[in-house]
Amino acid sequence: MSPALSSLPAHVDSRSLVSSLLGDNPYFQAGFGLMGVGVGLSVFRQAMIFSTVALRRRMLVSLEISNKDPAYDWFLAWMAHRTANANTGSAAAPWLRSHQLSVQTSHEQRKNGSSNALFKLVAGPGTHWMRFRKAWIQVKRERETRSQQLMSGIPWETVTLTTLSRDRNVFSELLREARDMAVVAQEGKLVIQIPWGLEWKPFGLPRRKRPLKSVVLAEGASERIEEDVKAFLRRRQWYVDRGIPYRRGYLLHGPPGSGKSSFIQALAGSLSYDLCLLNLSERGLADDKLIHLLSNTPERSFVLIEDVDAAFNKRVQTSEDGYQSSVTFSGFLNALDGVASGEERVIFLTTNHPERLDPALVRPGRVDLSVLLDDATPEQARRLFVRFYGGGGEDGAWEHIDPQTIEKMGREVEEVVKREMKLGKRVSMAALQGMFIRSTTAEAVQGIRTLFMPK
Ligand SMILES: Nc1ncnc2c1ncn2[C@@H]1O[C@H](COP(=O)(O)OP(=O)(O)O)[C@@H](O)[C@H]1O
Ligand SMILES: [Mg+2]
Repeated sequence: MSPALSSLPAHVDSRSLVSSLLGDNPYFQAGFGLMGVGVGLSVFRQAMIFSTVALRRRMLVSLEISNKDPAYDWFLAWMAHRTANANTGSAAAPWLRSHQLSVQTSHEQRKNGSSNALFKLVAGPGTHWMRFRKAWIQVKRERETRSQQLMSGIPWETVTLTTLSRDRNVFSELLREARDMAVVAQEGKLVIQIPWGLEWKPFGLPRRKRPLKSVVLAEGASERIEEDVKAFLRRRQWYVDRGIPYRRGYLLHGPPGSGKSSFIQALAGSLSYDLCLLNLSERGLADDKLIHLLSNTPERSFVLIEDVDAAFNKRVQTSEDGYQSSVTFSGFLNALDGVASGEERVIFLTTNHPERLDPALVRPGRVDLSVLLDDATPEQARRLFVRFYGGGGEDGAWEHIDPQTIEKMGREVEEVVKREMKLGKRVSMAALQGMFIRSTTAEAVQGIRTLFMPK
């Protein structure tokens, strides 16, 4: 029987009818045979198309990651990592052999001002293939050139991963691996975020955390701020129950080099919070954008605005002087506690000139705790000295001096500072640190007097 007929429903009545009509007639049989072949071919073609679609639908799975999602950066970093590993044996990163690569450069800025740039080759826009856990994966990176993300001007991008359906579980494995890699890269590190259009984006590589104890503040100051922040973070429910916005503002003020920025960085690191840097004088930052940024801060992050006094006093806010930046003072106050401002936020402000701040800014609700970090006190100088030179025979120490001697020298340092202060002079913690870095203990005790400046 021809394939066309065999695909008819097997109905007893119709079958007996057909066979009784045609079964004995050879001409009919031949004609039907030919027609059957034709129908059969077209059915076969339909079946092929259908099965390709079905194959795509049933046997392939795709995963789309857009660059709005954090997984996008994780995935590219993960790919870049595999590329880096592949320099030894190329099997791990077959896309190295593809012809479309793009470069991902990260900058690492060190405290002393030096920096280095790291280049990673990642798969560029186009189609690539890779093998992961014995599964072949097609990686298609596409850039939408026509539309750009609102405000940030970054083109939309997607990476689409496609693999066989039976291997679908590799996606979650792959994403988990990429995420774990990102988490490990940040472990023990401080992540700095900066505005990127309307969004916050990590800036540079995560930095090594600075121990909180390494910032030596006047007696009790460090604990006071730390306790306040911790207490606030514990009391979220208390705020929610009372319908109070869950926000707190801190102002650290005092002369340059007293440890304001260092302390805030160290504190964020010690609580495993990110630090979001906001520069109010930045070009193109206007009131509406500021409100948006401040009400959309990343989870577990502190906002840091340095030198708040400078943002509004420097210039007249016209665009005639070429300045496009137009955060107004009232706009800033609104962003801090207006109706549209975010529900949840910890904000740190710093200034060298608290006397220049408008009283409206430092009232409770905007600034809840204001702490002076001043020039070195005698006791601070001693503690910094002991922190620097103590620790005896640890690796990297220049001298090996027993702890008692260090303590004794520390008390000498304390006395020198006391005497100089009585003469109306001052020294910053930054200046002390600067000298300790390049001096032996004896030189430090000797030279400390030269650092003092008139008030
Ligand atoms: N209280 C301090 N304890 C330890 N180091 C300090 C202290 N104050 C300043 N420094 C050092 O001086 C430098 C400048 O400090 P920084 O935090 O930028 O001061 P500020 O922000 O108050 O101007 C940093 O390298 C920091 O390590
Ligand atoms: Mg500073």
